[in-house]
Amino acid sequence: MDILERLESNVRSYSRSFPTVFVRAKMSKMYSRDGREYIDFFSGAGALSYGHNNEYIKKKVIDYIANDGISHALDMFTEAKEEFFLAFEEKVLKPAGYDYKLLSCAPTGTNAVEASLKLARKVKGRPGIFAFTGSFHGMTMGSLSVTSGKTVRAGAGVQLTDVTFVPHPCSFKGDVIEYIENIITDEYSGVMKPAAIILETVQAEGGVWPMEPEFLRRLRAMCDRQDVLMIIDDIQVGCGRTGRFFSFEEAGIVPDMVALSKAISGYGFPMSLLLMKPELDIFSPGEHNGTFRGNQVAFIGAKAALELREMLDLEGKTKQNEEFIRQFVKTRLLTLDDRLQHRGTGMIHGIDFEALGDESLSGKVANECFRLGLIIERAGRKDCVLKIMPALTIERDELRAGLEIIEKAMTKYLRQ
Ligand SMILES: Cc1ncc(COP(=O)(O)O)c(C=O)c1O
Repeated sequence: MDILERLESNVRSYSRSFPTVFVRAKMSKMYSRDGREYIDFFSGAGALSYGHNNEYIKKKVIDYIANDGISHALDMFTEAKEEFFLAFEEKVLKPAGYDYKLLSCAPTGTNAVEASLKLARKVKGRPGIFAFTGSFHGMTMGSLSVTSGKTVRAGAGVQLTDVTFVPHPCSFKGDVIEYIENIITDEYSGVMKPAAIILETVQAEGGVWPMEPEFLRRLRAMCDRQDVLMIIDDIQVGCGRTGRFFSFEEAGIVPDMVALSKAISGYGFPMSLLLMKPELDIFSPGEHNGTFRGNQVAFIGAKAALELREMLDLEGKTKQNEEFIRQFVKTRLLTLDDRLQHRGTGMIHGIDFEALGDESLSGKVANECFRLGLIIERAGRKDCVLKIMPALTIERDELRAGLEIIEKAMTKYLRQ
């Protein structure tokens, strides 16, 4: 561990929350060098929805590599990409009735967000973007400009311009849609009409704040009225985390663009995609480029993940596990202190400690969870929300065991 602490930049963060050296992982368990076993409620920040080293996906990937499948090809045509596109169309787009074109972005989520902002500005010929307070969209300049945390924004070291933050419904008493429409239409609002509004249907890093389906429908209608594009950043809560493949399906809306990453490759491989309505596909060839645009091994994993999703009925399993989590939280966690709050959907849930007035509490609980063998992160303003985000494939006894660790850790600090 000494070399890791000495040589790795001070910017490292998760290794501070989970200070051990991990050597192996299988499905919902991680194992450290000192022989300890951990249940994983963090899932690689949402990238490992199918668990670690999922056998089905692993086999497809190993076979592909063993047969000298193409490992790198920029955005050339390959069979790996072709087969993933076919599976994506058949298993995701067609059943849900979506007509999108796909842009393979450079590896990470932030690249898909960058592409969406660039494209929106090009399509509408306007520089402005609206984003929500509490949002997190990534760490490169464009994504950072629509990310709300002041500390990370300051890290840019330059002005992050052409973005207007509008209040998330969780932090505003009035009608948010009316407010947004008012600043778009009022000649004297001082704010120019944006090209797009970008949002997370569930603000995940922001503290697990879901938007109501009715709110999403009204926002979609407002975007149509005002000729503003709707970009949904489904990087963390897409790919089935909320049940359906896309987090916005339940609301019955069709965003103009959708950013996907994290769990899409099924195996934790870097991969990101931007989905866009066909009429928005106006980038000229090479206008948005990148050496690692379209990771071939990730395409293999992504296709296998879509197959697995069907084979295991992960949508149904997610709904059942959601109910189990809800019941557990209601009867065994919230009862520890009536100021605690619970929010969540599918397989992303937050326990909010803010009303307890002790900013150190959620950190103490998370650390105690780690000591007891559970990997769990915090989110939200002042990091006061414990974020429960297991793999969608988690077994019921592991889910229960993880929740019982949270109960034990919370009891230690709330019932002393
Ligand atoms: C909603 C959302 N958008 C974008 C990103 C950025 O993705 P990446 O870290 O892969 O660049 C994240 C990462 O946590 C995210 O949660």
